[in-house]
Amino acid sequence: MPEFADGQEAGRYSFVVVACRLPVDRVAGPGGEMEWRASPGGLVTALEPVMRKAGGAWIGWQGSAGEAPEPFDTSGMRLVPVGLSPDEVRTFYEGFCNATLWPLYHDVIAPPEFHRSWWEAYVAINRRFAEAAAAQAAPDATVWVHDYQLQLVPGMIRAQRPDVRIGFFNHIPFPGYEIFAQLPWRRQIVAGLLGADLLGFQRQQDAANFLRACRRGARLATRGSHVQVPADPASPGSAVRDVRAAAFPISIDTAGFGELARREDVLARAAEIRDALGKPQVMLLGVDRLDYTKGILHRLRAYGELLKEGRLGPPEAVLVLVASPSRERVEHYRVLRDEVEVAVGRMNGDYGELGSAPVHYLHQSYPREEMAALYVAADVMLVTALRDGMNLVAKEYVACRHDETGALVLSEFTGTADELSSAFLINPHDIEGMKDAIMRAVTVPPAEARRRMRAMRRRVAENDVAHWAATFLDALEHAPGRIRQADAPDG
Ligand code: G6P
Repeated sequence: MPEFADGQEAGRYSFVVVACRLPVDRVAGPGGEMEWRASPGGLVTALEPVMRKAGGAWIGWQGSAGEAPEPFDTSGMRLVPVGLSPDEVRTFYEGFCNATLWPLYHDVIAPPEFHRSWWEAYVAINRRFAEAAAAQAAPDATVWVHDYQLQLVPGMIRAQRPDVRIGFFNHIPFPGYEIFAQLPWRRQIVAGLLGADLLGFQRQQDAANFLRACRRGARLATRGSHVQVPADPASPGSAVRDVRAAAFPISIDTAGFGELARREDVLARAAEIRDALGKPQVMLLGVDRLDYTKGILHRLRAYGELLKEGRLGPPEAVLVLVASPSRERVEHYRVLRDEVEVAVGRMNGDYGELGSAPVHYLHQSYPREEMAALYVAADVMLVTALRDGMNLVAKEYVACRHDETGALVLSEFTGTADELSSAFLINPHDIEGMKDAIMRAVTVPPAEARRRMRAMRRRVAENDVAHWAATFLDALEHAPGRIRQADAPDG
């Protein structure tokens, strides 16, 4: 085994994924004992074949406070848990990740909080992930780091393991510089990200925002989608490393959802759902994590006005609102839950009748089968996010509509809107416009609905999550990454 600068040995895995979360659930095994099992998320579905082929390891947190369990093998990959103490969950996960970066990167829909102690925790935990990755990576391995929780990891890995190829993908938006500039540690974040050879973003605009942060904040030269980074940050001379920042819109396991939506039990469940709702003519559906970026209150305001004006209402039309529990100890999420529940309660009180309510609210998480049944059952899907990196729910709905019926009302402020332009696009801040779009979706002539759905299904079939992963990994393999003399910058 070769040794590196700090005496560390290289590991065994030639493909290493580093993400805040491990792709596992803790479930009861055959003998009743608790064991870890791979959870069927889109990312792991896409990466599993690569993992199996390359000998892959996945480094992540198991989602609860406490010591990390021992590494273990499942579904052809090595899972390496990283532990967080209760205090680190508070300062790193709930604090810097979800009360500083999350609101900042989503256009400050909620005010971000800046605390130096949270930043210190972010640095320490990023180092823990980076060390675990550096320890697992074989010589010349490929390491793929994911999302806003781990933006310092690329730079930290590069410092320890200059032999490995490093990719980073940001699943959420990257904000405009005027907003990003608020972050007291913006310089360190940009430097951490630039440890990668390739930086992937959801939309062109996100990549452009990052490149601008490099120019404005870090005073680095860019050419097209390339940033020139001093090869040795300690002595910024003329030798540079090329880092590419570009858009790679993520997608879903299209075939997997498609298959679910054809399964007899799922179709039977879809029929059962409609029966349970009192066989409405129109079932509207919203599915989100209960998060203030999703525009749930804006959606309820529009729907409430349609009820008040008598343009929609039970028993003919009902709204099913699935809001899965999320980050429940973070203050903004607690406040939002109360606001949503007050709004739903008020609407059902004002416009419901015995046996028929205008809103069926479910603060629960469901398995993929139940989600597919809901998508098959729903006539109109409402995606009203105020800002969303992509929005995979919109794509899942489309993937489940085999008969090309159904309508998607989709916020312009999602990455998905760049791809699914045949949806009924809305600005969720424009309540009147949203109401009209909902009514157009409810009353769309079948031929037009089919035309729109067909175009959207084509797009989701072409760009599924396997295609996304393959495109990113191919670009990473071909990323310049070499050290050379600096070029003249753009403009
Ligand atoms: C978004 C983020 C992910 C995150 C997920 C769930 O999709 O991009 O990184 O894992 O939300 O949030 P949670 O805080 O439960 O991990």
